[in-house]
Amino acid sequence: MRTEQLVSTFVEYFEELGHRLITGSTLLPPPGDPVLFTTSGMHPLTPYLEGSPHPLGKRLVNVQRCLRTTDLEEVGDATHLTVFEMLGTWSLGDYGGPLSLGWGFGLLTEGLGIDPGRLHATVFAGDAHCEADQASLDLWQDRGVPVELTVEDNWWSNGPVGPCGPDSEIFLWSGDGPPESTPTRDDRWVEVWNHVMMRHRRLDDGSLVPLPQRNIDTGLGLERLASLLQGKSSVFECDLFDPWRRLVPPLWRLDEPSLRLVCDHLRSAVVILGDGVRPASTGRGYVLRRLVRRVLTVLWREDPSYSLGDLPDDLVRDTLDHFRQDRSPGDVRHVLRDEEQRFRRLMERGRQVLARPRFRGRLSEEDLHYLHDTHGLPRDLVTSLRRG
Ligand code: SER
Repeated sequence: MRTEQLVSTFVEYFEELGHRLITGSTLLPPPGDPVLFTTSGMHPLTPYLEGSPHPLGKRLVNVQRCLRTTDLEEVGDATHLTVFEMLGTWSLGDYGGPLSLGWGFGLLTEGLGIDPGRLHATVFAGDAHCEADQASLDLWQDRGVPVELTVEDNWWSNGPVGPCGPDSEIFLWSGDGPPESTPTRDDRWVEVWNHVMMRHRRLDDGSLVPLPQRNIDTGLGLERLASLLQGKSSVFECDLFDPWRRLVPPLWRLDEPSLRLVCDHLRSAVVILGDGVRPASTGRGYVLRRLVRRVLTVLWREDPSYSLGDLPDDLVRDTLDHFRQDRSPGDVRHVLRDEEQRFRRLMERGRQVLARPRFRGRLSEEDLHYLHDTHGLPRDLVTSLRRG
């Protein structure tokens, strides 16, 4: 099943169940939100989870692009991407957890044809602040799905304060043989769908208070499920990455881990640019800059003549089209090229400055501040120049 078909099957299934499709999927959170990028499908819905009525009602479905930099070091494994898409559903004070999980089970097994024997669930075991999630446990037992109980892994929040709650996660077996063990003990169990019983708010002092309404917030990782349905062992092999795997290797000779990192970060950079962000030394623009610089560092380690200017227009266009962004591929390539030149100049200057006798030994905090303030050399660049 191609990703596009997976998205439409998901959306139509929930539309049949009375959910309205919400659009507005940019990576940029609504104005006033202190977070740099949207990190999950629920993120733009925070005011509605906290009780404001949503104009489209109490049952919603959407496809949201998300960006997470917390997992940057894990990019390149089988399941993590910097920019990924989340299929989400919400009950804003409407139906409860068991109905949501039951529908989720129905979609995965009947709608998408997954053998129920390849599923495992996890459920919140309860702690001093919140009781165990018995309703979810009962639902899974009724469906014959094995359950593992955990505490921290089954509590979802989007930050230290704000809406949060116990969750029940659905895992799909990705191993070759029959399923074994449990999700926390065997990472061949891949988490695909999280259902959060979003009914608490964490306050500044760490205490929990009930939200004005009992919500359900679910998020399904599109690329993860797509790759498993397509019989692939990593997200980098699902159909969304076909153009990258076809067009990047002829340009640059890279081993598999480097290829994954380059494809992930470049694709993310294109999407961030597509949403109107420009490289900068702070905030969103700095996240973009860091992604591009990580790509260049990997490319130049292999061959200093590799250049982002060689990125084919088709590849950029394919990504912009997929995310329904109307920026021109030429414009995106232009910014990437400028950023590359800037980084090349910075690297040259950095090498010259670091060759001075003063910087030969161990660098003090004062040296690092001086290099940054006077020569524009960020700490991570200094570290990588000295390593190289
Ligand atoms: N908010 C939850 C998550 O990001 C479910 O949507 O996993």
